[in-house]
Amino acid sequence: MAGRLSIAIVLLAVLLGYVYNVFLQRFIQVSGIFREPGSTELAPGEFVVVNGTIGCEDLHLHEPSGLLFTACEDDVASRRKWFPPIEHFANPSTERMKGKLEVIDPKTFEAKVLELEGFSGPFVTHGIDVIDDPDRPQGEAVYIFAVNHKPNPEHYGENGDAKAPKSHSVVELFHHAIGSSTARHVRTIWHPLIVTPNDIFAESPTSFFVTNDYYYTEGLLRTIETVFSMAGWTNVVHVRLENPGSAEDGDGDSAGVHASIALEKLHNLNGLGHGGGGQGEILVTSCSSGLLHVGEVVGEADTGKKVIRVKEVIEFASPVDNPSYFRDPYANGTFDASGIVSSGPTRGIDFLESKGKEFVLDPNMVWKATPKSGKKEKEGDGERDGTVAGGGKNWDVSLLFEDDGRRLRTSSASVLVAIDPNEEGGRRRAWLFLTGYQASNVIAVKVDL
Ligand SMILES: *[C@@H]1O[C@H](CO)[C@@H](O)[C@H](O)[C@H]1NC(C)=O
Ligand SMILES: *[C@@H]1O[C@H](CO)[C@@H](O)[C@H](O)[C@H]1NC(C)=O
Repeated sequence: MAGRLSIAIVLLAVLLGYVYNVFLQRFIQVSGIFREPGSTELAPGEFVVVNGTIGCEDLHLHEPSGLLFTACEDDVASRRKWFPPIEHFANPSTERMKGKLEVIDPKTFEAKVLELEGFSGPFVTHGIDVIDDPDRPQGEAVYIFAVNHKPNPEHYGENGDAKAPKSHSVVELFHHAIGSSTARHVRTIWHPLIVTPNDIFAESPTSFFVTNDYYYTEGLLRTIETVFSMAGWTNVVHVRLENPGSAEDGDGDSAGVHASIALEKLHNLNGLGHGGGGQGEILVTSCSSGLLHVGEVVGEADTGKKVIRVKEVIEFASPVDNPSYFRDPYANGTFDASGIVSSGPTRGIDFLESKGKEFVLDPNMVWKATPKSGKKEKEGDGERDGTVAGGGKNWDVSLLFEDDGRRLRTSSASVLVAIDPNEEGGRRRAWLFLTGYQASNVIAVKVDL
């Protein structure tokens, strides 16, 4: 039984590969079909489990406060029962959908669950973004945007329509004063262009980008879409709110919500991150293609619409999920460890077989892309379709950490927190915080930079 699905996928890939050889080479590399899981050795005390952080898909460092923010689940079984992003629709019962927002102190490795004010769920968490409240001194308060995959009452309700989408996926906006134990629900945001939301990049409390990670939500076409990197069927949507509004307004999820396509015709657009090249630099991954697009936000002055212009593409050797930018606070003239961190499965090929299992090892690889010193080459538009090998001529990609699945099940986000070299006898080291949508906990491991 086991293996039948991946054999089918391989046959499919080989067939497509005859048509397009570059695709086949990349498929072999990124899917990990011939790759044995590895496991980075760690000294005692260099591996910490952050308790009370179940199935957190995304993780963000809020630099002004030095705190990590994440959105988690209530139970390790949740993602198997209901999680539309991986085609799990078995149990749409909303009572148990009790996702959480949590704050992790990277110094104590303790996680605090934020009490949600004015919000009672259901809450099925996925990507988040955290930005400073522009009306308060920096670091005092934040807005948290969080994807929420609620079951669609039009599908599951009394006179449910089987043709209606199973998930009514929305974005929740919260406000949190740093140090407090609560997050106040500001409003729910929905627009017909938000279909399969995965991750968020917020510019301000009233402007954000959200990826739709798939065109097909289920079935064979969805599998083809996952495997076939030429299936450039996904997009990033730019959303503008007339005002952040208030949950009490009671005028619906789509009140004052305007949306337009910001980036499209790319494969499996998934994770979003803020880049290192200033305010408007945006990182967008094509997850199962193992590509990261470095883009810039370009505004149209007359309409207020914003689009993403891809500047270059970085190739990774595995699928890559949510990217994060590490800004090295201890950089000096000769050593700067700043770069982009992103992680994904060692054997993406096993994804479909493993995701529904209670006990399985899902090995992971964490990559770091650092700008090549000196030369900076301009790259052509040919890389936009993600098929040209050699994308990312300006970046060195190296393996930062790997796990065979025993310490972490799945890895969807990874964030570096630098350690003061004085505490490490002058060595440049960092805590790497890792999390996965099917992980039982966030973990932290000490790595060399
Ligand atoms: C998490 O819980 C385990 C088991 O109770 C404990 O050994 C460990 O110290 C805890 N981690 C932290 C960061 O407190
Ligand atoms: C910069 O940092 C590196 C790594 O800690 C160190 O080896 C080097 O001496 C530092 N350079 C300067 C100019 O301080």
